[in-house]
Amino acid sequence: MNAMRLEGRTALVTGASQGIGEAIVRLLGARGARVVAAARSLDKLQSLATELAEQGVEVHPLELDLARPDTVAERLKGLPEPFSKVDILVNNAGITKDGLLARMSLEAWEDVLRVNLTGAFATARAVSRGMMRRRWGRIISVSSVVGLMGNAGQANYAAAKAGLVGFSKSLARELAGRNITVNVVAPGFIETAMTDRIPEKHREELVAVIPLHRLGSVDDVAWAVLYLASEEASYVTGHVLNVSGGLYI
Ligand SMILES: NC(=O)c1ccc[n+]([C@@H]2O[C@H](COP(=O)([O-])OP(=O)(O)OC[C@H]3O[C@@H](n4cnc5c(N)ncnc54)[C@H](OP(=O)(O)O)[C@@H]3O)[C@@H](O)[C@H]2O)c1
Repeated sequence: MNAMRLEGRTALVTGASQGIGEAIVRLLGARGARVVAAARSLDKLQSLATELAEQGVEVHPLELDLARPDTVAERLKGLPEPFSKVDILVNNAGITKDGLLARMSLEAWEDVLRVNLTGAFATARAVSRGMMRRRWGRIISVSSVVGLMGNAGQANYAAAKAGLVGFSKSLARELAGRNITVNVVAPGFIETAMTDRIPEKHREELVAVIPLHRLGSVDDVAWAVLYLASEEASYVTGHVLNVSGGLYI
């Protein structure tokens, strides 16, 4: 069956140099999209582009630092055609700077809000104009179940991830008239560099409280993003799709 194909579409994926973002680039590319892969580590993006080019997937690496949201529009303006006509935006880049409230510095608070939330705002604003003109668009932000449930020690991260939900629901209302859908994917615990840092004992306790009894894979998240990016999801907007093995129900 020829479902969820993306031929002719250009996707921009932030945080594309590893983990979930890299998996999203691979899947959207395999489904026919050309992809702008953005992150700070240009070398990693270049090797991903070279690898995927051998499979016939067009990937344009873009060095982008979301800790400097004021530079995002200018960076995107420099994209060559046809990569400059972004149809699908995946706001995936994210960082953590954990700590209990009493010990959380203003810097740790602001850094996490800037990259995870303001970065998504700046990128969405930059690409939305073209989407509006072309009357087609998909904006998908990778939040976290932590933004829905809260998590001790992650007040900054949870606030940013919850912020993405309010931001996306507002954009969904604003942009629906231009045939642009705006949705959120909220992963639970996914096997990546971010969760590799969890000590083994804590990991076992975690798995025990996940109804599906495993951590998720990066592909579990990428499939959800692909669905929301596809033509098949054209009547879905303002939605938060949890990919958490039942951790958040
Ligand atoms: N892993 C999980 O269990 C989990 C659970 C729920 C939600 N999430 C969310 O899923 C997304 C991806 O997570 P992941 O586990 O794949 O994380 P990861 O392996 O740490 O990758 C994070 C990505 O964000 C990019 N990034 C970090 N700072 C950036 C900046 N200032 N400007 C531009 N890009 C930046 C990194 O690239 P560079 O360092 O090259 O810039 C990297 O590509 C994040 O938003 C995360 O919050 C993850």
